Amino acid sequence: MATDINNSQQKIAAASPLFPQQDIDEIQLAIGNILRSGRLILGEHTLAFEQEFQSYLGVEHAVAVSTCTAAIQITLRFHEVKQREVILPTNNFIGVVSAVLEEGATPVLADMNPETFCADTDDVLARITPNTAGIILVHIAGLVHPDIDRIRLVCENKGIFLLEDASHAHGAEIDGRKAGSLSESGCFSFYPTKLMTTGTGGMLTTSNKQLADYARSVRHHGVGNSLDDVVNLGNDWCMSEIHAVLGRSQLKRLEQSIEHRNRLIIRYRNGLKELSWLSIPQYPKNFRHAYYKFPILLREGLDRDRFRRMIFEDYNIENGAIYDPPCHLQPVLRKLMGCCEGMYPQAESALKRQFCPPIHSALSELEVDRVIAAIVEAGKRCGFN
Ligand SMILES: Cc1ncc(COP(=O)(O)O)c(C=O)c1O
Repeated sequence: MATDINNSQQKIAAASPLFPQQDIDEIQLAIGNILRSGRLILGEHTLAFEQEFQSYLGVEHAVAVSTCTAAIQITLRFHEVKQREVILPTNNFIGVVSAVLEEGATPVLADMNPETFCADTDDVLARITPNTAGIILVHIAGLVHPDIDRIRLVCENKGIFLLEDASHAHGAEIDGRKAGSLSESGCFSFYPTKLMTTGTGGMLTTSNKQLADYARSVRHHGVGNSLDDVVNLGNDWCMSEIHAVLGRSQLKRLEQSIEHRNRLIIRYRNGLKELSWLSIPQYPKNFRHAYYKFPILLREGLDRDRFRRMIFEDYNIENGAIYDPPCHLQPVLRKLMGCCEGMYPQAESALKRQFCPPIHSALSELEVDRVIAAIVEAGKRCGFN
């Protein structure tokens, strides 16, 4: 039986956006003005959000779009990936694989490194062939891919693109350089669970003016100088002015959110350090982890699924496991690409053991203490030692 930390207490969410009242008041005012102005897309807020985001990252261009998936598709289309291969990790959001397929390319999945949860560098590089168009790296959970510079140099030498999927990594850094500024292009998601949200939304960041111009055209049906002058195959991938207002407000809170998350993680680490059946990765000082998620590993052979269920059902605490099952074991890719068990052994073995306790900007220290107590007690009840 669970004790006093049981499920009669309020649910703790695994992820949640944070909109303090002061921000809501400002947002409501701005939305009223937008509605009165009649300018609902591609107006002053979209432009300002792009400029604020690009200066936060230290990149030359930022183009606001409807989703991260749109940003990825635009980048793939710019690089003419049709009938070519794109390498990307199997522990990934399935929509990224879909984007590659939508653009007529072949996704080539790579295994993951169980210590960082990012793509395994050697496996990624070994999968480069003469038909490779480029590589998509995901900064998993908010950790910049530790080998990003090495992989970028290989890409430059081979003339293939490198795209950073920074959907988990707004504000994450390596050596003081921000995710999304470490390669030719970065793609960000502002989905509700992310480090900052616009409801739905995305941003493409790039040092390449041609890619930025192309993105501005393709997000708006491929227009050139006017709506009567269509120069590219495009789509309706604009961000609305209302979404841009949310983005501007959330960007102002981002630094504070990352600091808050880092403080909570120290609390988690202290509270969980005696548990020999849990392994919590440490990161060198030159990384600033954004802690979109806090993935930790249970020792091999333990019943992770029972433990996760217990934490949710008996203690009312939502928890996750990012990308379990990995993309190659999703029914759609088993069918379309003939994927099966055993193809990516590191991902398969680590993801089955992964557990992500709640972490978000609205989470309090008291709630973290409640999660720690639940983990300790549920571990005992499951017989972990
Ligand atoms: C790593 C990663 N890439 C891409 C996406 C897609 O983002 P969006 O929903 O904005 O298209 C997500 C969303 O969850 C993600 O986690």
